[in-house]
Amino acid sequence: MDVQKIPKKLILAYFSGTGCTKAVCDCFEEQLLNVGIDCTKINMVTCKQLDVEEADILIIFSPVYAFRLASITEKWVKYLPRVQNKSAIIISVSGGGEISPNTACRVQCKRLLKRKGYKLLYEKMIVMPSNFAIQAEQNLNLDLLRILPYKVNNIILDILSGKERITSPKFQDRFFAVIGKAEHLGARFFGASIRATQNCNKCGLCIRNCPQKNIKMVNGLPKFGFHCMWCLKCIYNCPCKALLPGILKFSVLKSGFDLKKMNEKSKEKPGDLEYRHYKNILWQGTIDYLCYDDDYYFNK
Ligand SMILES: Cc1cc2nc3c(=O)[nH]c(=O)nc-3n(C[C@H](O)[C@H](O)[C@H](O)COP(=O)(O)O)c2cc1C
Ligand code: SF4
Ligand code: SF4
Repeated sequence: MDVQKIPKKLILAYFSGTGCTKAVCDCFEEQLLNVGIDCTKINMVTCKQLDVEEADILIIFSPVYAFRLASITEKWVKYLPRVQNKSAIIISVSGGGEISPNTACRVQCKRLLKRKGYKLLYEKMIVMPSNFAIQAEQNLNLDLLRILPYKVNNIILDILSGKERITSPKFQDRFFAVIGKAEHLGARFFGASIRATQNCNKCGLCIRNCPQKNIKMVNGLPKFGFHCMWCLKCIYNCPCKALLPGILKFSVLKSGFDLKKMNEKSKEKPGDLEYRHYKNILWQGTIDYLCYDDDYYFNK
């Protein structure tokens, strides 16, 4: 390996609604620091201006919403400083995996990066528990958390050995990625429809944490505007379970979404692997990711 090419400093920029993408970014940071690579981790919500020149590679971490990267990520990339051939990597985080129609999720972000003068070296999907619409089987979610360090380790080995990985999305998925933009409009109405019930204890957590600053306290109760991006953070993190959407209710998991709890549970002994044999088109990308994309975990 050409020692000159080993990156010395990386910027890890993430957006995360319900914690999964942050957990992925944290895992990268921990492993990179362990091999002596300097990392600066930044949250796109709070970091508007970035000095990319100081880093060898910029890594962007983003959840997938409606077959493309979160709108906040695309907006953040749009305002990145112009550079000349600065290396960049995109790690998308989804509940469904690298499967149609998710395969085009990074297309728009790649286009924006190229326009700004960045050179994409590598792109990959990490799969984490899905927080959207349909509850996955618990053992599947827990195995996704258990396998994360191995997946991250493999990507870091790729990056350090200079391996490039650029994917080509399926033709029809480019179409879905365009359709997915309708989600931005849906998000605005979804957000505006959220109401706080009488269970609300007025703690203000939802207001402080909304990445879009879409929530204000009005007459002692949180009131929602039209700037929502459908990250579901406010709903899942409310300590009183007091927030209910008025429309598109299917998007919220009935049992909630608590990554911290799932992480605790994932430290227990793995359960049965029945889900591996399901022929479930909905979770096929996730099962493939767990079973075949990387043989370290299940063949050890
Ligand atoms: C509005 C919305 C849309 C989503 N759309 C997709 C999708 O198109 N494909 C997919 O695989 N997962 C989708 N998901 C699931 C998330 O990508 C997944 O749960 C991710 O881990 C969330 O990351 P976070 O916890 O960092 O926000 C969606 C989630 C939300 C909230
Ligand atoms: S987080 Fe929940 S309890 Fe706290 S102010 Fe918001 S709605 Fe009310
Ligand atoms: S209102 Fe809730 S769902 Fe919408 S952006 Fe803010 S935290 Fe996310």
